[in-house]
Amino acid sequence: MDKKKIIIDTDCGSDDAMAIAMALNDESYEILMFSIVAGNVSAKQAAINTLTTIEKSGTYEPPVYMGVELPLVREMIFAHETHGNDGMGDIGLVPHRLTVTPGNGVLKMLEILEAEPENSVEVIALGPLTNLAVAIRLAPETMKRVKRISVMGSAGLGTGNVTPASEFNIWQDPESAKIVVESGLPMMFVGWDACLDEAMLSAADIERIRNSGELGKFAIDCNKCLMEMNCDRFGEPCLDMADPAAMAAALCPECIEKCDKYYCEVDISFGISAGAVLVDVYQFSGKEPNVWICSKLKPQVYKDYIFRTLHA
Ligand code: RIB
Ligand code: CA
Repeated sequence: MDKKKIIIDTDCGSDDAMAIAMALNDESYEILMFSIVAGNVSAKQAAINTLTTIEKSGTYEPPVYMGVELPLVREMIFAHETHGNDGMGDIGLVPHRLTVTPGNGVLKMLEILEAEPENSVEVIALGPLTNLAVAIRLAPETMKRVKRISVMGSAGLGTGNVTPASEFNIWQDPESAKIVVESGLPMMFVGWDACLDEAMLSAADIERIRNSGELGKFAIDCNKCLMEMNCDRFGEPCLDMADPAAMAAALCPECIEKCDKYYCEVDISFGISAGAVLVDVYQFSGKEPNVWICSKLKPQVYKDYIFRTLHA
């Protein structure tokens, strides 16, 4: 059967790395390219981390293109405390063979969307939406050819992870998120809440993945900083894996427990709720729902998908 085609846009930190390894090992899909965006770490470091992840995944090797290296308007604020200075747990991971492919990730994304049949390519965004916003502004008619844009982004129906209201990817570049949300393109946000509670990887899940082989060991060890942070927060090793949750929701819809369509707006103020995705659950606005919000996964179906795609 023909493989379904995807493009992955990433600010490759350690949870992106696990998600990318999962996608590379899901034989139902073909990743046509990676576009790099700044977020967890600088775009240059995110590219290095993506190349490392492709090498460690040991499957096929899609091209990695640099995208926009700064948010549209706001200052860059990296997530070093969560993912480490290199974004991959500071355990010395570097690519040994692969390099970035010359060319601009936004232009290459548009080229692929023009060349592939309409409604056949899904874009999965794991970082701030800067590249997607620029693509929409540059070639709105071409972007309409996309099958769907699935985003790890927003607090879903819960609370934020960088402020009480905002999730990191949107908070880092709210103006870009506003452009994407208001574009009218088919969209799903997988909220931060989808990777919490029973969807957290437990100490047993972590041990199963890490002891399963080189790929599993890589996927866990690069999350060393997040695991240490969670040990302090929760008293035991556990992993809230936002990008793997988003990847699972996009590639394995059987993992989804709750996903509903709401009218959403992005707060581009500079106040306490900057970067919040306001979800009009009770339709106060009376406006047409424009974004699907996946706020909950089926924990065991989701974890089984991770185990299957990481060969654990
Ligand atoms: O809020 C979590 C998101 O921000 C994840 O995609 C993580 O990798 C960072 O990009
Ligand atoms: Ca990410």
